Amino acid sequence: MDIYEPAEDSYLLQKYVRQCAIGRVLDVGTGSGIQAFTAMDVKLVREVVGIDINPKAVEILQKEVQEKKSRKIKFLHSDLFANVDGQFNTVIFNPPYLPQDKGILDPAIYGGKKGHEIFERFFRDVSEYLFADGKILLLCSSLTPHTRVQEIVQHSLFEFELLEREKMPMFEELFVYLIWKSKLRLELERKGISKISFFAHGRRGDVFTGFWNKNFHIKKFLSKPEAIKVAVKVKRAESTATERIENEINWLQALNKKGIGPRMLFFGGHYLVYEFVDGVYISDWLEKSGKEETRKVLGEVLQQCFLMDKLGVTKEEMHHPLKHVIIAAGGPVLIDFERTKETKEPQNVTQWVEYICRNKKVLSEKGWLINVEKLRDLAKEYKKPHDQVHLQAILAGLKL
Ligand SMILES: C[S@@+](CC[C@H](N)C(=O)[O-])C[C@H]1O[C@@H](n2cnc3c(N)ncnc32)[C@H](O)[C@@H]1O
Repeated sequence: MDIYEPAEDSYLLQKYVRQCAIGRVLDVGTGSGIQAFTAMDVKLVREVVGIDINPKAVEILQKEVQEKKSRKIKFLHSDLFANVDGQFNTVIFNPPYLPQDKGILDPAIYGGKKGHEIFERFFRDVSEYLFADGKILLLCSSLTPHTRVQEIVQHSLFEFELLEREKMPMFEELFVYLIWKSKLRLELERKGISKISFFAHGRRGDVFTGFWNKNFHIKKFLSKPEAIKVAVKVKRAESTATERIENEINWLQALNKKGIGPRMLFFGGHYLVYEFVDGVYISDWLEKSGKEETRKVLGEVLQQCFLMDKLGVTKEEMHHPLKHVIIAAGGPVLIDFERTKETKEPQNVTQWVEYICRNKKVLSEKGWLINVEKLRDLAKEYKKPHDQVHLQAILAGLKL
């Protein structure tokens, strides 16, 4: 493994290390140590830790420190944060940013197949090593699409400022970013959520996952700190649909009391946190499930639809539930209550019966034959009273 010789990128970043480094500094991918030694000479810097995956680089730097007898700086061998302890005020990173060439494995310059995988790994973990008001100084090159890098930063709930961009020969450009934790990340971390990462884009908001440790503030006193996987649903900044999130918060609270929906844990102005539902979306599950388990699950969802009908609410989309029903180890869980509304004519049972009817072919392949016309008639009958008697008739029609 070659040690990375300081180049234009190193010198550009160095300029900002001189200006911004403060307190406890971590230099990730230190290479020749250029950023770490620069930080060491900054007045407001108390301590510097430089890490690199290249053992040769670390060995040379450790010798240099011994010779200089410096106590302010140390170097460690580490794959990103693997051997790093504590938190820092400044984290410096000049990553290997070139997309991987086939057959060449040089972590000094290659950042993964597309060049940005190393950024993803870095942003997945860096927050744990950064004080609440800590800052990251990041260099990246246009050889890794910087829009993708910015997306990774935002998806990790950080905010950024582009400090400088510099044109290089051959159309390459270098970018220096100053990055810090967003208000939302800070709030979630204060409430005990760690390992926050992007999960999916919704129509009106984004979903993140993380691990919530309810007793995080007394974590060190617990023999086995327990963390549960959570989903964090956040209204997207450009969306005006705050009321949708509020709507979901209100309904989830009410429906949880009936055992419906993922367990809601807490919420804030424009986000809610609920227990992550680990499972398979209904349509994918139906492709593979056996006859008896299918009967059981479809029947359980029907019962949940009945409970919602009795409450006088319509969840919407139960005839087309695609991503609205997840089959987890403990049974089916309905998710996404953004559009749930109070109504005199709830349609959950009738919509669900329609979904079952539309899946007649998939069900018949499992040896479960349903009479679609009869079921649709029974659903029509049920529509007027929404009562147990008519629900039982549907259950009988499904032979459940
Ligand atoms: C572009 S060089 C930057 C070196 C130096 N910081 C500078 O500014 O000149 C990238 C450095 O990251 C190191 N590196 C690559 N992958 C790493 C990883 N997973 N963990 C730690 N260091 C890594 C390489 O060995 C290399 O020294």
